[in-house]
Amino acid sequence: MDFKIQVAELKDLRHVQADALLLVVGEGTSPEALGKALGAALAGALKDGDLAYKAGRCLYLHGLSGVNASRVVFAAATGASPKAFRAALVAGLGQLKGGGARHLLVASALPQPIDAAQAQLLAGAVGDALYVYRHTKPSAPAAAKLQRVTLACSGAETVRDALHRGEAIAAGVALARECANRPGNHCTPSYLADEARRLAKSHDLELEVLDRKDVDKLGMGCFLAVAQGSVQPLKFIVLQYRGATKNAAPLVLVGKGITFDTGGISIKPAAEMDEMKFDMGGAASVLGTFRAVAQLKPKINLVGLIPACENMPSGSAVKPGDVVTSLSGQTVEILNTDAEGRLILCDALTYAERFKPAAVVDIATLTGACVVALGHHRSGLFSPDDALAGELDRAGQTALDPCWRMPLDEEYDEGLKSNFADMANVGPRAGGAITAAMFLKRYTAKYPWAHLDIAGSAWKSGAAKGATGRPVPLLTQFVLDRAG
Ligand code: BES
Ligand code: MN
Ligand code: ZN
Repeated sequence: MDFKIQVAELKDLRHVQADALLLVVGEGTSPEALGKALGAALAGALKDGDLAYKAGRCLYLHGLSGVNASRVVFAAATGASPKAFRAALVAGLGQLKGGGARHLLVASALPQPIDAAQAQLLAGAVGDALYVYRHTKPSAPAAAKLQRVTLACSGAETVRDALHRGEAIAAGVALARECANRPGNHCTPSYLADEARRLAKSHDLELEVLDRKDVDKLGMGCFLAVAQGSVQPLKFIVLQYRGATKNAAPLVLVGKGITFDTGGISIKPAAEMDEMKFDMGGAASVLGTFRAVAQLKPKINLVGLIPACENMPSGSAVKPGDVVTSLSGQTVEILNTDAEGRLILCDALTYAERFKPAAVVDIATLTGACVVALGHHRSGLFSPDDALAGELDRAGQTALDPCWRMPLDEEYDEGLKSNFADMANVGPRAGGAITAAMFLKRYTAKYPWAHLDIAGSAWKSGAAKGATGRPVPLLTQFVLDRAG
């Protein structure tokens, strides 16, 4: 999805040309300053208890006389924080998105003027609200009627820049959501490669796709072992964006691209196994970040690596106890074929060395244990590098796509001991997200490295089942901040 948010300097909200008005209100909002009609409606709603300044509260009014827009939504923000502002927008957009409005004017009646951070978040909230998954569901509602959004604000350059940033991130998030939502029989490793090809063509990126022969020749024994049980051919996707001089060390993003994770011979239980189509959420977030970065053109070099395959049980599948040799030369005893993410990532992490990276960040729906530890709100952040961890943490805070740092003490490494190889691919159940990160750490000695476990944040289960597009906002923010 591609949309633009316009900026309008509107001193008087009664003269809006839009057919819907979303007004963010809260403590400190002066009803009198809104003009007669809006002011009276707001004051009345507050007095009668139909609106309160509490999180998520909003009020929809239709055909308010004295107001041009036939739809007015008051959305309550609890304070001036970017998070409270976004929550109000999300609630307000929820009221409008399914309706007939075509042109929405968004304005804030909070005491503080709209700032850059809020403008950036507006674009994200609009993008999220307007996304509809339709690819395999023709009966889904047609694309939202809402096509135009205008932000009433000072129109300052910083606000416009922030809107552009938000629009690019929203486009990246939408791409990531669409890829991840597509079922495993549609979103195959070949599909991910095609999607990367489309992106490379439309945005002038460099692309190389390695297939089984190449990967075999390189010696990626761990990646090959995971892929060998499937009839879907594996793909190793190498995307490059060049925004800086040739010799500037790049950032490398590595995304786990398991297009379906059955567990392999260590097969998963049936319940909710369908959600393992989302096991390429890391790969989707790399594609989405490239989409955003290619639009914003920061002065930085970026490499994206996506090992993509299925994890299937079959007569040719890797077996528990099999020992394979990774690209690094270290051998791995595969005790559990369901711990496949780290196997495809470790070879990609070794491959990353050839770019002499400034830093490498891998993104993976890696462990159920991370979901137990952090739930669905924060992604797990692991890094032995305090500076890099700090950058990613701050990027997550800025983009409201938060993560939380987890430990990597040497003690956690002991669980990976094997009698038959340099390491096993699993340790004890307790601390499973950390052991997985410790496994990856063994392949990252040559550069600053961080790992994001997005098993809890990449998708939602239940009635709202679907991909979130996270952590595209965090990653894009990180890349932009690095570029300066
Ligand atoms: N893709 C899964 C992780 C996962 C599970 C994410 C459930 C979200 C929800 C990963 O490949 C996996 O199966 N991990 C195992 C590791 C274990 C065998 C050490 C897990 O978490 O159970
Ligand atoms: Mn698995
Ligand atoms: Zn997996």
